[in-house]
Amino acid sequence: MDDRENRETSGKSCGIAADGQESGTSEHGQQSNPGKSKRFVFWANLGFVIFSVLLLWFLFRAPPETTPPVPYDGDHVKFFKMGKKKAEAYCERCHSVEGGMPLPEGHPPKERCLFCHKRLRPDHK
Ligand code: HEC
Ligand code: HEC
Repeated sequence: MDDRENRETSGKSCGIAADGQESGTSEHGQQSNPGKSKRFVFWANLGFVIFSVLLLWFLFRAPPETTPPVPYDGDHVKFFKMGKKKAEAYCERCHSVEGGMPLPEGHPPKERCLFCHKRLRPDHK
């Protein structure tokens, strides 16, 4: 019942739009100057293109990845088989001031170690 009512009203408003003006334009006299809205579309498109080019330029300029991967050695090999969150629970046992292997000064925010430090196996990458 509600459904049909909705369809009816939306149908009606469609009809109004169709026999009024082109859909997408408002009633507030924008059609009195069609050149103005074309110009707006042109500048909006140009702005978008410039923005996209700048964004690509920025991304290609990114320096090569320098974050050291997790070493594949006796201390770390067990973490290669664990889930990331599970493994991260162990990192700070060693990589903290108390653990004796503190993170370097100016180390970025350290939540989720393994998002940044990849586990690259030397055998199959
Ligand atoms: C048992 C102690 C211990 C634990 C636990 C541990 N590490 Fe380490 N880690 C070390 C030691 C010792 C070194 C330095 C020697 C080496 O390269 O293995 C090191 C080095 C590193 C390095 C530097 C590699 C480089 O190129 O300089 C990274 C990155 C690292 N660990 C990440 C982690 C992460 C991430 C975890 C948790 C998943 C973790 N470690 C857990 C002892 C540990
Ligand atoms: C936001 C990304 C990020 C996260 C998260 C992160 N690190 Fe790092 N880590 C880095 C970067 C980048 C460097 C290199 C910093 C430098 O060279 O000054 C680094 C350096 C290190 C080093 C020293 C490596 C060396 O060769 O001296 C260790 C050890 C380390 N991180 C361990 C960890 C541990 C353990 C965690 C989690 C508690 C962690 N990192 C979380 C980005 C991250």
